[in-house]
Amino acid sequence: MKIALGSDHAGLPLKNEVIKHLEAKGIEIKDCGTYTEQSCDYAGFALSVAEEVVSKNCDLGILVCGTGIGISIAANKVPGIRAAVCGDTFSAHACREHNNANILALGQRVVGLGLALDIVDIFLNTKFEGGRHQRRIDGIAEIEKKYSK
Ligand code: RB5
Repeated sequence: MKIALGSDHAGLPLKNEVIKHLEAKGIEIKDCGTYTEQSCDYAGFALSVAEEVVSKNCDLGILVCGTGIGISIAANKVPGIRAAVCGDTFSAHACREHNNANILALGQRVVGLGLALDIVDIFLNTKFEGGRHQRRIDGIAEIEKKYSK
């Protein structure tokens, strides 16, 4: 399994902790930045991670900003991306099982480190259930198709 990670400056400390956590488990990562604490805008990092995922260069992505919100909204503009902001373990489980989320978004200013790492583990270890949920995801793809040029 290969995981793409990205953050803005506000999410950098948590992103680095997540990278340490994944590397300790022997999980391959691709760090798409940011790499410094200098203030920056999250959209470009969201795009880099989203492209790693839709191109299948990476299996899943993890994005971090202050809230997880801006960076997930940006990632969700890429067709085929289903980015879910999670601040609890139930959502981490459900977004994989029901929504086949392919990017997890975390808020550095929202979740503590212990909870964030539990959310990461659950996100990476939960499988999509398919069945009726596939039909619902197909509905999302239809919306993308309607608005793509
Ligand atoms: C940066 O201050 C902050 O706005 C950003 O990290 C994020 O929380 C936006 O959604």
